Amino acid sequence: MLLVFRKAQVLYAMLMLNVFVCVLMSVLWNRGHHRTGPRGVHVPTGRFWLQQDERGSFWNTEQRHLDLIYNLTELPHRSNDTRPLDPVPSDSDYRVTTNISDFNALPQRFQDFLLHMRRRTYPMLIDQPHVCDDNPFLLLVVKSQTPHFDRRQAIRETWGRAGVLANRTVATVFLLGNTMSTDHIPDLQPMLGYEAQLHKDLLQWDYRDTFFNLTLKEILFLEWFSQNCPHAQYILKGDDDVLVNTVRIIDLLEGLPENKSRDLFIGNVISNARPIRDRKLKYFIPESVFVGQYPPYAGGGGYVYSGDLALRLHSVSQQVVLYPIDDVYTGMCLRKLGLAPEKNSDFKTFDIKDEHRDDPCVYRSLMLVHSRTPQEILQIWSWIVRPELECLIQPLYTAPEDGPVKAASEDSL
Ligand SMILES: *[C@@H]1O[C@H](CO)[C@@H](O)[C@H](O)[C@H]1NC(C)=O
Ligand SMILES: *[C@@H]1O[C@H](CO)[C@@H](O)[C@H](O)[C@H]1NC(C)=O
Ligand SMILES: *[C@@H]1O[C@H](CO)[C@@H](O)[C@H](O)[C@H]1NC(C)=O
Ligand SMILES: *[C@@H]1O[C@H](CO)[C@@H](O)[C@H](O)[C@H]1NC(C)=O
Ligand SMILES: *[C@@H]1O[C@H](CO)[C@@H](O)[C@H](O)[C@H]1NC(C)=O
Ligand SMILES: *[C@@H]1O[C@H](CO)[C@@H](O)[C@H](O)[C@H]1NC(C)=O
Repeated sequence: MLLVFRKAQVLYAMLMLNVFVCVLMSVLWNRGHHRTGPRGVHVPTGRFWLQQDERGSFWNTEQRHLDLIYNLTELPHRSNDTRPLDPVPSDSDYRVTTNISDFNALPQRFQDFLLHMRRRTYPMLIDQPHVCDDNPFLLLVVKSQTPHFDRRQAIRETWGRAGVLANRTVATVFLLGNTMSTDHIPDLQPMLGYEAQLHKDLLQWDYRDTFFNLTLKEILFLEWFSQNCPHAQYILKGDDDVLVNTVRIIDLLEGLPENKSRDLFIGNVISNARPIRDRKLKYFIPESVFVGQYPPYAGGGGYVYSGDLALRLHSVSQQVVLYPIDDVYTGMCLRKLGLAPEKNSDFKTFDIKDEHRDDPCVYRSLMLVHSRTPQEILQIWSWIVRPELECLIQPLYTAPEDGPVKAASEDSL
């Protein structure tokens, strides 16, 4: 009797232990499951903007609305017209002031963004319709701002020189917005006009050039590209404070297998990022605007993609509501196309280790590095093109997988 009782006790203890182990394992597994995969791009399943409770988040609501419109228009009995059915306000969209619960408490830049979120067309002030007459192999597209004359000139004299490089045609454009008189910025427009005449590489639109309007810069460029440069094979898009090793980029592109070039999108890919909720940071996004996880995206400092993909991004962008962070927005559009950007560790948008900054050979093996002053760009470029510089084995410098230096704010995006 006692023995039987003991046996039952032991069995019971073992059962409890099993239950405990199972619970522990499932907790651990679930935790691991939501973490970054070991390496490479983790593509979240399901719609990336769908989260437990997205009611009241303005972007998510607007996106659901667009999805509905495009879903309906894709049915055969509908017209082929895929434009949104609602009229797009040409001035401010005052719905947002009542539809977003905490609109009045949001920082000014959010209010400005939300009020103009649905407007996608602005007149061009400076155009260069002939930049792509030679159907360039590589179009260099630089996000700049009016006062950055010296940055643009440094790029023209170095990595962004238009013409023939490594036996390939390269063309360059700089993307600019405008200023508003209320921003109290000195009037540099006449000087910009002179620069445009001299170099014929500026594209300027009449919208206010701010951080949250970079997405506008992106879609206006895609629109321009599809009309003026649809046969360029590849695009490198970057900031005006990056150094690009254009020679290496061309090498990389020439070596691509046929079946890889069409969907090409390479850069410093950031995966599993979420919106930042800390109001003090540049990348802060309130919950009333967006909830959800970001799709994998390439850091906006610089990335390379195919011209063919640019045309598809242009058309799919009509179906994605504008988002205030431009590189995340591009990731959303890629996601909508069923694609994900590919990580290449030679795109150093978070810079390289301090001890390598002055090593000429390091720059020979990199694709892109952020950030450098105009003076540094001239210096480094002279190292890259100096024929007598001997670097041991290419690449001399193999970067650690996760990149050495990371900016706290961008990293946590
Ligand atoms: C489109 O409609 C179909 C059928 O109603 C639905 O299954 C699908 O999820 C919808 N797609 C989107 C993107 O909303
Ligand atoms: C839809 O597209 C087809 C072919 O592109 C065209 O023939 C047809 O007229 C279009 N229908 C409408 C309603 O625009
Ligand atoms: C804005 O609010 C109105 C009225 O409450 C509602 O009908 C509409 O769906 C809302 N729109 C969005 C985009 O939240
Ligand atoms: C330069 O490119 C052209 C066509 O792109 C090719 O025919 C030619 O052989 C190339 N020359 C060299 C030296 O690689
Ligand atoms: C974006 O540009 C438009 C047009 O100039 C302007 O009204 C709006 O305030 C700008 N948005 C931001 C966030 O600066
Ligand atoms: C491209 O082709 C190569 C060799 O033919 C093959 O191994 C690879 O899987 C293909 N890649 C894609 C993305 O189709």
